[in-house]
Amino acid sequence: MASSAAFFVFSVLVALHLCCCHGQANAAGSTSDVTAIYSLGDSITDTGNLIKEAPPGMFETIKHLPYGITFGYPTGRCSDGLLMIDFLAQDLGLPFLNPYLGKNKSFDHGVNFAVAGATAMDPADQFNGRFFMPFAANSLKVQLRWFKDFMKSSFGTDEDIRKRLQSSLVLIGEIGGNDYNYALFGRNVSEVEKLIPGVVRTIVDAAKEVLDMGANRVIIPGNFPIGCIPTYLTTKGSSEPSDYDSMGCLKELNLFAAKHNARLQRAIADELRPSYPAASIAYADYFNSFLTLLNTADELGFDASSVRKACCGAGAGEYNYDWRRMCGAEGTAACAEPEKYVSWDGIHMTQAAYRAMSRLVYHGRYLQPQVLNLEEAP
Ligand SMILES: *[C@@H]1O[C@H](CO)[C@@H](O)[C@H](O)[C@H]1NC(C)=O
Ligand SMILES: *[C@@H]1O[C@H](CO)[C@@H](O)[C@H](O)[C@H]1NC(C)=O
Repeated sequence: MASSAAFFVFSVLVALHLCCCHGQANAAGSTSDVTAIYSLGDSITDTGNLIKEAPPGMFETIKHLPYGITFGYPTGRCSDGLLMIDFLAQDLGLPFLNPYLGKNKSFDHGVNFAVAGATAMDPADQFNGRFFMPFAANSLKVQLRWFKDFMKSSFGTDEDIRKRLQSSLVLIGEIGGNDYNYALFGRNVSEVEKLIPGVVRTIVDAAKEVLDMGANRVIIPGNFPIGCIPTYLTTKGSSEPSDYDSMGCLKELNLFAAKHNARLQRAIADELRPSYPAASIAYADYFNSFLTLLNTADELGFDASSVRKACCGAGAGEYNYDWRRMCGAEGTAACAEPEKYVSWDGIHMTQAAYRAMSRLVYHGRYLQPQVLNLEEAP
């Protein structure tokens, strides 16, 4: 296959990083004063924006079952059911966040601006615009503009916006994962590492704008250990055993994600917190919480032998992942028990994994510092 065509297909599937579900009761004992959540990000948090925006034919798969199968119907979430943001909203006693592009929806308790496939940086800034990113139109900058427009039209004056944000939580990310996903296709890790400073700068600058508007509680998640997910295990697999760590993950890619995370954490500590001493600014450690999930999969109720296997895909290979036949395409099928799997479609997680992640992060030690008053996870 011509490499441009291959890249196009790869982009479709990664844009699925581009790419649900009913709830349980609020966490007992949560005494939250958060009355609204505003969220910027990509498919890890998109609750329905991309499917409103994608032209017919695009991203068909996420519009149909088995996406949403655990929820009962497809919602535009890139999972079988709910996402971390949904569990977070529930645990804070809030309704699920409606997507900004959804028509006639209530935004009384916040808005979700996240769009599957979104990058942190504008495409033009990536590799000096020489890099083709067909599904990255809703970069963090675009989402930030939506956020500002929304706040202005809803609350009017800067002072009213400030007041509103004082009782809100702003989530910036996970974002940046797609910048790397797109770039890693056809480039080696050392080349893609050159993007890290620009991606982190973009995230930190977005956080500053939100803090300048008056946000006083901001959570900024890092990237996942991408060397552990089926898409990379398949597309960047190696015949050299020493390229894998003891958990069967690709060392180089995890190291790469860790470098992004280290730089992001440094910027939060050295730049954001000193400039905004009155605000609570937390780093959400998706990297180590995900490794903990993998390491304790058994006790968390997952099938420990399937933690690196996609629930939904085409059954070739040990990761059940084939980028030419992604979940939802002809010839693919979802597993019978998604709640036993960590990976839903080889890129995104199952509702069960997102629930476990939200407990590990928002109720536990992976939110640094712990800025929510949610009960400790058992
Ligand atoms: C929009 O929402 C309002 C209030 O919830 C409702 O009364 C109205 O029927 C809705 N309109 C459409 C077109 O769904
Ligand atoms: C990565 O790719 C660049 C550009 O093609 C090349 O110069 C460099 O040697 C490669 N590095 C590794 C570690 O393969």
